[in-house]
Amino acid sequence: MTSQMMVDLVPVDEAVLEDLLALAVAEARPGEVMPPAAGETTTEPRTTWTDQRKEAFRDYHRRCRVSTQAPVAEVTWAVTAGGRIVGAARLALVDDDPEGREVGLWLGESHRGQGISGEVAYWALAAAQTMDAKRLVARTTVSNSMARRSLERIGFELAHSGSDLVGTISLP
Ligand SMILES: CC(C)(COP(=O)(O)OP(=O)(O)OC[C@H]1O[C@@H](n2cnc3c(N)ncnc32)[C@H](O)[C@@H]1OP(=O)(O)O)[C@@H](O)C(=O)NCCC(=O)NCCS
Repeated sequence: MTSQMMVDLVPVDEAVLEDLLALAVAEARPGEVMPPAAGETTTEPRTTWTDQRKEAFRDYHRRCRVSTQAPVAEVTWAVTAGGRIVGAARLALVDDDPEGREVGLWLGESHRGQGISGEVAYWALAAAQTMDAKRLVARTTVSNSMARRSLERIGFELAHSGSDLVGTISLP
């Protein structure tokens, strides 16, 4: 299905951050929406929300704001569709690959399966190009069939890397 709604990306200021957290708590799992918090491992399932994880979510997005004081390795935006916050996207530098940029996306459950990821991919490709990147990459787990379908549909070339699936699109 293709998204018929106007999809946009907006900076995560404090007001947007609280709306985004409310959506994440209501319609997503911590493991889908943010990196492991202090003391957690990447292999932990992270299925329930705790106060510590809510605070870690806030800290994560605050760390990922564009800054004129210091460069940041990862930037996040809230994704809106039809004017409502529906999820968040990220664009990050890639360790050991100066010409690569990694894109990530999560949507609230009620907003999945409507083609929004395709709209966000157009934005990510354009943004990565303005950064002189040579490839856009996306990483998910082999078991995440929603993400796999979305990446295939967008045109990522997929390769296995252990229990991960890495998608790559070369940029002109
Ligand atoms: C992965 C994700 C970003 C894809 O975005 P999307 O806009 O829903 O992507 P699409 O609309 O192209 O749908 C992709 C697949 O989701 C599945 N899907 C469809 N409706 C769905 C629904 N209501 N709920 C869940 N999954 C659904 C379908 O398998 C679809 O594939 P299809 O082409 O065979 O129909 C989104 O599902 C999501 O946020 N998932 C949780 C977080 C996550 O896994 N992020 C990816 C890490 S790289």
